[in-house]
Amino acid sequence: MAVVVGLDQPLVVVEWPFGEFEMPRRDKALEDYIVTLDVYVIQLGWVIRMFDGQSWHLIVGPRVTRRPGGNILVDMDRIVVSESGPLEGEVPIHGAKNSVLKLMAASLLAAGEYELTNVPGIVDVALMAELLEAMGAEVELAPPVCRILVPEIVRPEAPYELVERMRASIVVLGPLLARNGFARVALPGGDDFGPRPIDMHLDALRHLGAEFDTRHGNIEGRADQLLGTEVLLEYPSVGATENLLMAAVLAKGETTIENAAREPEIADLAEFLGAMGACISGAGTSTIVVEGTEELHATNHSVVPDRIEAATFLAALGVAGGELTLAGARSDHMEMLLRKLSDMGMQICRTQTGIWAAVDGRLDAVDVATLPYPGVATDYKPFVVSMLAVANGVGIVTENIFGGRFRYVDELRRMGAEIRTEGHHAVVRGRERLSGAPVRAHDIRAGAALVVAGLAASGRTEITGVDHIDRGYTDLVGSLRAVGADIERE
Ligand code: EPU
Repeated sequence: MAVVVGLDQPLVVVEWPFGEFEMPRRDKALEDYIVTLDVYVIQLGWVIRMFDGQSWHLIVGPRVTRRPGGNILVDMDRIVVSESGPLEGEVPIHGAKNSVLKLMAASLLAAGEYELTNVPGIVDVALMAELLEAMGAEVELAPPVCRILVPEIVRPEAPYELVERMRASIVVLGPLLARNGFARVALPGGDDFGPRPIDMHLDALRHLGAEFDTRHGNIEGRADQLLGTEVLLEYPSVGATENLLMAAVLAKGETTIENAAREPEIADLAEFLGAMGACISGAGTSTIVVEGTEELHATNHSVVPDRIEAATFLAALGVAGGELTLAGARSDHMEMLLRKLSDMGMQICRTQTGIWAAVDGRLDAVDVATLPYPGVATDYKPFVVSMLAVANGVGIVTENIFGGRFRYVDELRRMGAEIRTEGHHAVVRGRERLSGAPVRAHDIRAGAALVVAGLAASGRTEITGVDHIDRGYTDLVGSLRAVGADIERE
């Protein structure tokens, strides 16, 4: 059964006889394709369904093709942006990708029925739903709501096909080990912003008594009984903190996590775990203390708003000018960025229900260095670079989190941006306007930054690699159009 998001009712696909593409192999499990279909239904927002009296038929559009591995993929959707502004109006801020994925993983800790609200309609959530389903859970995904039914016995395995498509899958390791005493999770590879090791995740879990082996590309973890202890993380890794936290809640005794990541998404996870019956204090600070419990239970939770999505719209405002209200944004989760934006000349008001901001004319350049929270997040950096590309003066941007996260700079240069990179620094000399060009998104945030840059570029900017943007944004194009941007998806 496939639940198709965005339609008014769940749809049971029992037959799939036609469509504008060839079925690769009739004998291959139909479910393989249906699962993939879930993903591009979200990406495209269109699919025709028919019931001929006996069976349901799905007709998907012509731009569907087959990837060499056998998966079906949307063929080259593009976002086309033209110079825009001033922007005006209200933009809704959705739930945070980097929280909801972890909350979904945390549901593996206890059987029962969960309801998550404020869930963004993004592809990564659909991928996490697939992962949970592969482990035996039932997931009904209809953003902004996601219901998860976790069975008494879960299959503690995360297969490569899914981990490869979403690195965040590694956060199932902690909950699976804690609940099952065993976990087999495919090792994630590197990605477009460099190697993404998981050594700190494993070290942290070893402190609680877990043992790991690598076999056939999988990491296999075992732990008869996790035991609480003091764990000092060598770096406040978001993922390692989350894996450790989710393991510690079912460990015996007290666990203290020192040098823990302090991101708002960690606090959101701790709140969710607390509602499941876990005993946690200090989440959101560098020291988290967890008193292990024997059993947790299912719960409901509303996902924390996405500060990175909010930053994307502030950057759009920064380059196009105008006045925007970000409904639901949490200004207290993005203080350092807001300070930088004020320094650049953006007017910002923190309201009870969101953020109001206005820009009149060109922003001024500033220097920015990325740091773990509460510093300026690495995920904001591509937007900052887009803003600096059309600001007054020269700004230096330093990346301290991910070594190779400057790949999109080549794309911005194709749009006429004056950017020089040296190691982990980028020197950006602002120009009055950029010049529209065909460019490619290589990751989620870089893709959104190119959209932002397109708003400040004369002519037409055509962005491919849109599937990256879909992984993290709920209808970015629709939200920008609604506030006056000249943007469409083709
Ligand atoms: N690191 C290690 N070993 C580890 C873990 C991390 O060397 O075991 C290194 C990483 O290679 C990186 C740094 O430590 O250089 C930070 O990694 P961290 O573990 O903090 O990041 P993450 O959990 O892998 C999350 C977000 C990222 C965001 C970073 C930093 C999710 C799903 N991802 O990644 O978000 O950039 O924290 O804040 O939560 C995005 O949303 O597009 C995105 C990439």
